[in-house]
Amino acid sequence: MAGLPHSNENTNENTLDIDSAAVTAVQVVATDYGDPTEVTEVVKAELPTPDAGQVVVATEAIGVNPIDAKIVLGAMGTDRSALPRPIGNELAGVIHAVGPDTDGFAVGQRVVGYPVPGAFADHVVVGTDRLHHRPDALDAEHAAGLLLVGVTAADTVATAGIGADDVVVIHGGAGAVGVIAVQLAVRAGATVIATAAPANHDHLRELGAIPVTYGDGLVDRLRDATAGPVTAAIDTVGTDEAIDVSLHLVDDRSRIVSIAAFGRADNGIVLVDGSSADSKRHRAEAVDGLISDAADGSLVTEVAARYPLAQAGQALADLMERHPRGKFVLIP
Ligand SMILES: NC(=O)c1ccc[n+]([C@@H]2O[C@H](COP(=O)([O-])OP(=O)(O)OC[C@H]3O[C@@H](n4cnc5c(N)ncnc54)[C@H](OP(=O)(O)O)[C@@H]3O)[C@@H](O)[C@H]2O)c1
Repeated sequence: MAGLPHSNENTNENTLDIDSAAVTAVQVVATDYGDPTEVTEVVKAELPTPDAGQVVVATEAIGVNPIDAKIVLGAMGTDRSALPRPIGNELAGVIHAVGPDTDGFAVGQRVVGYPVPGAFADHVVVGTDRLHHRPDALDAEHAAGLLLVGVTAADTVATAGIGADDVVVIHGGAGAVGVIAVQLAVRAGATVIATAAPANHDHLRELGAIPVTYGDGLVDRLRDATAGPVTAAIDTVGTDEAIDVSLHLVDDRSRIVSIAAFGRADNGIVLVDGSSADSKRHRAEAVDGLISDAADGSLVTEVAARYPLAQAGQALADLMERHPRGKFVLIP
């Protein structure tokens, strides 16, 4: 069996010694379900040689998302046969080695990867169908936290069919998904009202939205925010308040789109999670634009905190508490 690193046969200048020692990866796994600070563990594992269509990525930054925390907490199920369970979904890094049939990918290239199960690691074997070339202008930390939330935001805006005639309320407009949904809806020409804590209002104004504080009296504040009727709502929070207010304000329930209120499906709202054909298409179509817009600065994203990979459990725990605006990233 060939060892690593391994070169892309199509890239002569990157031909490396394929008999080099295999890569031993440092990974963070969940050994149980529960408090992430208690059930996550750092382990070492020898990576398999990449198969056809696969490469090894040396990770530079890893995106941390609520779904990672929910999985570790057991909120998505407690299948014990899945333990020890790799964690993570997205990363940015540099190609370390390539398997056969990896045209267009070569050792040393910067990439961003999503979805990459088990992304909480310093090296991963991943199919090139999950990788995208990363422009020099897009640093690894911003890239690592871009795609999961970015494609989700794009999906909500496309599913709600947001256009120039709309007045749209975005619940959780300063969250990682919300802040991208705000920018995409503003770009579509809509009037955008975004709910957020007061500390985030100035930022939302800079992005072109009208900020409104959530909590008691929200319906009245949203009504007062603009002259026209609210025509659509995007919920990134999942609270009953967000859904009830949306049902109150938006006549057409097919234009109330949520990524989090899965218990409210009976209300006729649209829930998106990347599983339907439309949702998959919206997400796939969004990737290139998100990367190029983030690289040229026309899409604003923020990195709120960096944690060493070994402190992934703490990062997950902190993400589920009240946390600063922007993405958490792990640094191997
Ligand atoms: N279905 C999917 O495909 C999909 C994909 C990605 C994420 N998600 C889910 O979507 C949710 C948001 O993800 P995210 O990455 O954007 O999380 P995030 O960055 O943590 O943002 C959550 C935001 O919610 C806001 N918030 C907190 N309490 C609120 C309340 N009572 N009312 C209104 N807003 C409130 C906070 O804003 P302030 O700081 O302004 O208070 C916070 O910024 C998570 O549940 C995640 O699992 C679903």
